[in-house]
Amino acid sequence: MEIMEIEKLFGGIYKNKVCLITGHTGFKGSWLARWLTKMGAIVIGYSLKPDNEPNHFELLNENYTSITGNIKDLANLNKIFNKYKPEIVFHLAAQALVRYSYENPIETFQTNVLGTMNIYEATRNSNSVKAIVNITSDKCYENKEWIWGYRENDPMGGHDPYSASKGCSELLTASYQKSFFNTDNILLASARAGNVIGGGDWAIDRLVPDMVKAASNNNEVFIRSPYATRPWQHVLEPLSGYLNLGWKLLKGEKTFADGWNFGPDQDNNISVLDLTKNSKVLWNKINYTVDKNLANHHEANLLMLDCSKANKILKWKPVWDIKQTLEKTIGWYKSFYQNSIINTDNDLQEYIQSAKDKSLLWTGSI
Ligand SMILES: NC(=O)c1ccc[n+]([C@@H]2O[C@H](COP(=O)([O-])OP(=O)(O)OC[C@H]3O[C@@H](n4cnc5c(N)ncnc54)[C@H](O)[C@@H]3O)[C@@H](O)[C@H]2O)c1
Repeated sequence: MEIMEIEKLFGGIYKNKVCLITGHTGFKGSWLARWLTKMGAIVIGYSLKPDNEPNHFELLNENYTSITGNIKDLANLNKIFNKYKPEIVFHLAAQALVRYSYENPIETFQTNVLGTMNIYEATRNSNSVKAIVNITSDKCYENKEWIWGYRENDPMGGHDPYSASKGCSELLTASYQKSFFNTDNILLASARAGNVIGGGDWAIDRLVPDMVKAASNNNEVFIRSPYATRPWQHVLEPLSGYLNLGWKLLKGEKTFADGWNFGPDQDNNISVLDLTKNSKVLWNKINYTVDKNLANHHEANLLMLDCSKANKILKWKPVWDIKQTLEKTIGWYKSFYQNSIINTDNDLQEYIQSAKDKSLLWTGSI
């Protein structure tokens, strides 16, 4: 795809925009930074050092400004906001692991709630930021284990510390929207996505990374909660949602300064066991054993998002179904482990092409 063509996505809003991404060394942040860089944005990343080896951020070998810093450190955030003058902030930095949150609840709440508040305070102390997209999770909702998808106006909740911290981040966001930002003309939206998969994730205790790491070492993966269903989606799907939101907020459209679900179509809600079996079809080195003893902490069994609001108002729609999502995901790891090839740019191009074929608004092809 021509550079000129990719720069025109999202109405061309990101070309030469200073975009601060927190969490750029993580799975989703590294993909977002790549996409924004390709669109001509001036990316500033702010995160802790990557703590997995290998990791997608280092493999991509980017040359945008990458700052190692903690979101718990407001003084440092103030300095960075003042120095780089971001116009938009994509806030992804978080302690993002459910099981780790049981062992480290204080760190989880401090990072995910107080860290988010620091991002908002640094924004209030700056005079450059016009828009913030805060990334939470489908787990922010009070889980009722029912068959319907959660809507944006359902109550917040969360059983485990990670989920509750994301519910708290949403309540904090609602307070800042009402108390400060909307009156200051800084537009703040929050985005709740489902279980994200795709190449380049090596976080611990996540199904796909555990599966491919085991496969690469000729081991089998132990899966817990085999019958739990999740709204699986490729990492580029929620990212297209975040970029859509950023586009609208930067244009000053206040209706979008709200909460948004970005999940897959209902057919993508398959069980952990089915996802594992389908992955094995794509890469026969994947082997697994169901180990119910591993399910020693509570995890939701049934979790779906209702994305009617994003579909109708933002005109956002998922692009790939579960089959394509898994093909791209497992394909990425197979290329990496077998041929040392990083398929990120290729996947991004194909995703944009598939979105164009579907005439999605953000591609400018309607
Ligand atoms: N991966 C998923 O399936 C998923 C689903 C829904 C929501 N989310 C949310 O999306 C966001 C990104 O998730 P991910 O999967 O890329 O996570 P990740 O664990 O791969 O990356 C987390 C990032 O946050 C940074 N970070 C953590 N604590 C920090 C701190 N105190 N100060 C500065 N940076 C810090 C890390 O350095 C890293 O860059 C998170 O907010 C997560 O809760 C993820």
